[in-house]
Amino acid sequence: MAKYNFHEKLDRYNTSSVKWEMTKQVFGEEEILPMWVADMDFQPPKEVTDALKNRVEHGIYGYTFTPPSATEAVQSWLKKRHDWEVDSSSVIYSPGVVPSIGIAVNALTEPGDKVLMQSPVYPPFFNMVKNNDRVVVNSPLLLKNNRFEIDFADFEEKLKEGVKLFILCNPHNPGGRVWTEEELRKMADLCIKYDCLILSDEIHSDLIYSPNVHVPMVKLDKKYEDYIVTCIAPSKTFNIAGLQASAVIVPNEKLRVAFQKVQGKQGFHALNTFGVIGLEAAYRHGEEWLEELLVYLTENVELSIKFIEEQIPNLSVMRPDGTYLLWIDCRKSGLSDAEIKEALLKKGKIGLEPGPKYGQGGEGFVRMNIACARDVLMDGLERLKKAFD
Ligand SMILES: Cc1ncc(COP(=O)(O)O)c(C=O)c1O
Repeated sequence: MAKYNFHEKLDRYNTSSVKWEMTKQVFGEEEILPMWVADMDFQPPKEVTDALKNRVEHGIYGYTFTPPSATEAVQSWLKKRHDWEVDSSSVIYSPGVVPSIGIAVNALTEPGDKVLMQSPVYPPFFNMVKNNDRVVVNSPLLLKNNRFEIDFADFEEKLKEGVKLFILCNPHNPGGRVWTEEELRKMADLCIKYDCLILSDEIHSDLIYSPNVHVPMVKLDKKYEDYIVTCIAPSKTFNIAGLQASAVIVPNEKLRVAFQKVQGKQGFHALNTFGVIGLEAAYRHGEEWLEELLVYLTENVELSIKFIEEQIPNLSVMRPDGTYLLWIDCRKSGLSDAEIKEALLKKGKIGLEPGPKYGQGGEGFVRMNIACARDVLMDGLERLKKAFD
């Protein structure tokens, strides 16, 4: 018997929800179904809300620190879910993965340095590099049989140009690829060969569909510890992005000191009170909820793929190994990106992420977030069909 009800449609208006209440600013439209920003329309595990309520009841919100119990919760989650032993001294806290990318770029590279990534990819990767006056080097992913693959020859060529940092997205947003152990080893070994550090963004690592298995890159070889900084967070997993709490795992002391030095320059010293409470409660008590969520999301993925395959012949969807994001190929429709946008907004009345935002290889694609109640998903799929009719 399922304990959690993911079917319930919850009203998110009047909560300052970016996804639901910023459609006018982002799409120029109010009356659209939002299936864009990567958060879910589900409440987190009850224990998270209970822990937050308990803290609110206390009523004093002075300066707080992140207690060792929070780090223990992070360590035991990583061990249990990813068979990854992390020393408590390796754990650094940060309000978010995007801030951590900015910090890592500052800590591990110099202005003008080259930073490698693999488009199409989560757009802030580009922004954090450019905004910090570093240079983006791109090794585009290959699209083979409707699946992303790494072009290792190109990857190595790019590393030869003197890249200082590689930002990996594992699992991959927007494609949902969970990179295999072999692929991860190959990327890491090439980076080491050319003395390039790695930031592995593993924010989606708990959202994996069986039989795929997420492999934290750094755990594959002891020597990788001197090169890899890994970002993790409970935010995607448990839908608590608004609490702004994440962790960076940095086993190498030199890299850790460099990272913390930049945090110090920015005056950062602690997560906010509620972020710490949410992070600890989620990692400590959220596993059963997550297992049920994954069953629900698997069904959402299967339904969406079936619907699109059977009813929208102009589209083809990439099957995700993980993440609640669908990368949808609209190129058969013959529409330009501007026309796709227009069709989605005006005909379909649906807000999706436009592919070109994700860089080279994103043209002609859109990204759809399917982490919502089944009724909402079906409504969204009907709207998608209407847009491409
Ligand atoms: C790959 C990836 N990294 C980072 C983030 C955002 O992280 P944060 O909210 O912790 O800054 C997202 C959100 O969609 C993401 O997909």
